[in-house]
Formats: sequence, C-alpha cells, structure tokens
Amino acid sequence: MDVQGNLQGLKSRIIKELEELYLVTVPTGQILTRELAERMLAITHAIGREVAVYLTRNGHVLAVAVGDSSTVSLPEHGSRRTHMLSGIRCIHTHPSGDTKLSMPDLSSLRRMRFDLMAAIGLKDDDIVCSIAFFTGEIMETGEPVLQGSGEIDMKMLGRINLLSLCRSIDKLLQKNTLKDTTDQKERAILAGITGKSTQEVAEESMKELERLTETAGAEVAASILQKREKPDGALFLGRGKVNEISMALQETDAELLIIDDELTPSQETNLALMLGVKVIDRTALILDIFAQRARSAAGKLQVELAQLRYRLPRLGGQGLILSRQGGGIGTRGPGETKLETDRRHIYRRIHELEQQLQKLGSQRRLHREGRRAAHYPSIALVGYTNAGKSTLLNRLTGADVFAEDKLFATLDPTTRKLELPNGREALLTDTVGFIQKLPHTLVSAFHATLEEVQEADLLLHVVDISSVNHREQMESVQSVLRELNADDKPILTVYNKTDLLPDWADIPDTAAQEGTGVYISAVSGYGMEHLLERIGDMLRGSSRTMRLIVPYDEGSIVGYVHEVCAVFSEEYDERGTVITAEVPPEAKTRLEKYEA
Ligand code: GTP
Repeated sequence: MDVQGNLQGLKSRIIKELEELYLVTVPTGQILTRELAERMLAITHAIGREVAVYLTRNGHVLAVAVGDSSTVSLPEHGSRRTHMLSGIRCIHTHPSGDTKLSMPDLSSLRRMRFDLMAAIGLKDDDIVCSIAFFTGEIMETGEPVLQGSGEIDMKMLGRINLLSLCRSIDKLLQKNTLKDTTDQKERAILAGITGKSTQEVAEESMKELERLTETAGAEVAASILQKREKPDGALFLGRGKVNEISMALQETDAELLIIDDELTPSQETNLALMLGVKVIDRTALILDIFAQRARSAAGKLQVELAQLRYRLPRLGGQGLILSRQGGGIGTRGPGETKLETDRRHIYRRIHELEQQLQKLGSQRRLHREGRRAAHYPSIALVGYTNAGKSTLLNRLTGADVFAEDKLFATLDPTTRKLELPNGREALLTDTVGFIQKLPHTLVSAFHATLEEVQEADLLLHVVDISSVNHREQMESVQSVLRELNADDKPILTVYNKTDLLPDWADIPDTAAQEGTGVYISAVSGYGMEHLLERIGDMLRGSSRTMRLIVPYDEGSIVGYVHEVCAVFSEEYDERGTVITAEVPPEAKTRLEKYEA
C-alpha cells in the first residue's frame, strides 16, 4: 500500500519501513503501542520529517503519510459529518520533540472528526505525547468543543480506553446535534462481490440494491463491487476492499454499509467493528422496507416475526453500533415501533406473534371460502417489483391502491371486483412484488400475499417490458412461482409500460399477440380492452356452454347465472326461464340440476 505525502529524496529502505507500518495493528481500545511509536519516531529521526499514521477504531492502519518539517499533509476527506466521530484517529510525530498540538493539527481534528489526534515525540529518551479529542459538547456557535491532555507519557496514555471514550463522545455528540440531524437521510455505501455471476449480472444486482436502499429512505454515497468468486469467511469482502470502504466512508460521510448478499452474524459483527459503522445485508434491508410498508394487521405481524427471527442469531454483535446510531435502517419495526433487543423478550414476542398469525390465518381462510362460495373466479396479479401491478389493478377496477415508483410499494393483498366484457365478474388481487435473491425467510413470511397466488384460477404475470432486464425478471418470477407450486396454473403474460418503448414497431399487433402475451400500458390505458378479452377467453377455457331451464319460482338462480356466467340467450316458456350460458367450472355443480 502506498505511503502518502512528501516522499521526495527518501531512500528505498525508509520507504519500505514506512510501508511496513501498514502491517502494524494496535489492540482494540488502546490508542497506541510503544512499538508503533518507536518505529514512527525512528523514521522521523532518520528523515527529519513528520510521520503520520491513521488507525481505525479496531487498530488497523488505514493510511501512512509523511509531512514536511512543519505540518503533516493530511489526506483530504472533506468530512461533513456532524453527529458522530469518524472512527479514525491520527497519530503523528513532531521531529522537534515538542509534542504541543499545532493549530493545523486541531483544525484537521475538527474537520475530519477524528476519534483523537495525538502528537508523539522524544523527551530525555522517553516517549511523550499530547492528545486532543472532542468532548461531545457543542458551543453556541455550533463548533464542537475540543479537549487537550497536555504532555503525557506512554503509561498514562495506556490508561485511556479509546473505545469507551469514543462511545461516550458519540452519544453526547448525537444528543447535542440530534435536532439538526433528524431530517437528514442516512448515507450508505453499498458493496458486493461478483460471486459466480458475470460482471453484468452482478452490476445489475448492485443497481437493484441501490433502488432498494433509496426505497428504504437512505441515500447511496458510493457503490463498490469486488471481483471475487467466494466471500471471505471473516469479512465477506477482501481485507484490501474493506480498507477501501473505510476510506470511502470518510470521504463520503456515509454512516452505513449495505452488503448485497446475506452476511453471517460474525461477518456482520467483524465488519461493523472494523469500520465503526452500522453494517446490514440485503435481507435486513428488504425487511426494513417491508417494516415501513406493511399496512394490514397480518402484514405487520409477519414482518415483525421475520425481523425477530432474523435478529436472534445476530444479537449482541452490533449492539454498541446500532445503539450508538439510535435508529435508521435495521432498527425499525413495523409501525414506528423500535425492535426488541432483549433475547428473552424476543422469544416471548415470537410466540405471541405466531399465535396471532394463526388466528388471522383462519380468518383469512374463512374470507376466501366466502368468496369461493360466491363463485367468482379469482385472478392474481404477479410480477417483478415495480412492474406496474398496482397501477394495472387501479386502471382495471378503479381501485385506489398505493402505486409508487419504489420497490415493494404493495405488501398486502388487495382484492377488487373486475367486470369482464361478457358481463361476468371476477376477483382481481394484487400481490407483493417478486425480486431476485428474495431471501427464503421472506418467501415464507409473505405467505399472506402469496396464498392468493396459490388459490387463483388465473395468474396475470405483469412484466415491465421497458426494463432491459425483463427476461431475467420474468425468470425470477417463474422460479418463485415454482417454489409456491403455482407454476402449473393458467398464466397470461402482460407486457406493461409499452408507452416507454422507443419504437411502436416493437409491439406486435393484436393478432400476433395470440400466442404470446398482451401488450399494454397501465398508465395510458393502451391495450386494456384486448387484455380484458384475453382474460375472459382464458377463464372461459375451462368453462362449458350449458342450456338451463330455471323454474319461475327459483328467480334468484337466474340472477346468479347473470352474475357468474356469460349469458348468450334467454327465453321464457311454460317450464321456466330457458338460458344458454357459458358456465365457469366453479358454478357447474350448482347449475347441473337445471341442465336441459
Ligand atoms: P410493487 O408494489 O413494488 O410490487 O410494484 P407494482 O408492480 O405494484 O408497481 P406499481 O403499480 O407501484 O408501479 C411502479 C411504477 O411504475 C409507478 O411509478 C407507476 O406509475 C409506473 N408505471 C406503472 N405502469 C406504467 C406504465 O404503463 N407506463 C409507465 N410509463 N409507467 C408505469
């Protein structure tokens, strides 16, 4: 790794010694070791220049720099963070032996939000040092207050517990600046590895993670993809990449790292401790979005249950960091509640949630059976998230379903009545959007919306044809359908957002759409009539034309036939009302006894 700053005229032996400083580690909680101080001072003595070392909170060297005789040239990070320390400290030498911190030292401490700034030197052959750090208090001018130690020796320095010092400073800084930061968005750095996928697919997944992050309400500060087949056991990413991320966190003011995959609890903790920021993975991010968006009682219970199950093995790991941050992604439960952190309480809560869900499950079954008894065929809208399912449901039924250009706008099934051209009625249900790498825990957590898919007579697979990835998205939807054992159901592919296609010639004419799917625009209304006809045709596929004679004293049956069947003719003779109608499978049994 490169040494920064003024290296002019330095012998290669010295440069090597400087480079070797990168390999030094300082035990967590300790500010500096005697060994590191001695090595830095020896180099300073040999070259007559200042040497600076930047350490992460867990004692890894992030950067080594050489300054000129008066000031250390600090790498410019431009930190704007106001409510917490950067997680990095700067230790540097003063060749004169005088360890008094200079004005530039103090201003870079302020600007970079260092955990601590230390100057070391030699006095009567003994190592001495001066340190300065934030107190956590803020002056009336808005400037944070600094505190200096005066000159101290290594023994005194060794008594300071850096971790608890930083923890309390952070708490105070956060408390004192909270009023200014409440409406600030969290800034996140995203990172992933290519794994076994191609570069293109991996990049696509990172783009989706960006959209997920924005949907969760955070801002993406940077996105880093590492070419690497297998994740590192301890850190998920390679150590070099983690150092790069640590620098990027400083440069961009980000306070959150999101990994585009599932992390093991120990990878999560290691990364969090090494970087000093909150670390979450794709699953936690999706769960957070679900927590913010679930609206029905069942949806909320299911999200909380999935969150708690996900959290159990991870308890304790990031406790310090999550509590230091006091909120944001990964800490929210459904409906503004804060997630439980006590293991015993979690077990109790999980048990409660399971019981409540069971109760709701049987209520839902009753509802569904009620609908079946009404003999309406049911249609479920499925599709990749953001494909336009809710917009289509609104367009077809005039329902007011939440549709937003964000992922997973829909989390609860919404069922509406749909009138078909032949006068028949059907029930149309919106479902949760599917997504690649949807964690298994979530698939089971969202049975509430997916049960509707398993029960449906027809699936409308809505595809965003304007997305370059629509083929891959279709495949992911199909694989989730397979998992739900719903892939053998009649399915009509609905290519939506045709208004965004650059060329109308890309849309086959209606006749040519027969063997494929239907092309529509849920926003402009294009193709709606054709879509309704095709839905009608598909539902009719399994229906049968019947000639029925309904006695005059059973008038309610005539009403029922009109409601659920397509009626071709209706006449009256001495036996009763004679109706020829197309009868859907679910109504056959009830009408058989009237068949002529
Ligand atoms: P999830 O709830 O995430 O599963 O999304 P969804 O499939 O229900 O998508 P939704 O209806 O929320 O639409 C997502 C975005 O696409 C919204 O901004 C819609 O306005 C937009 N959209 C939907 N249909 C069309 C369309 O035909 N044309 C265009 N241009 N935009 C559309």
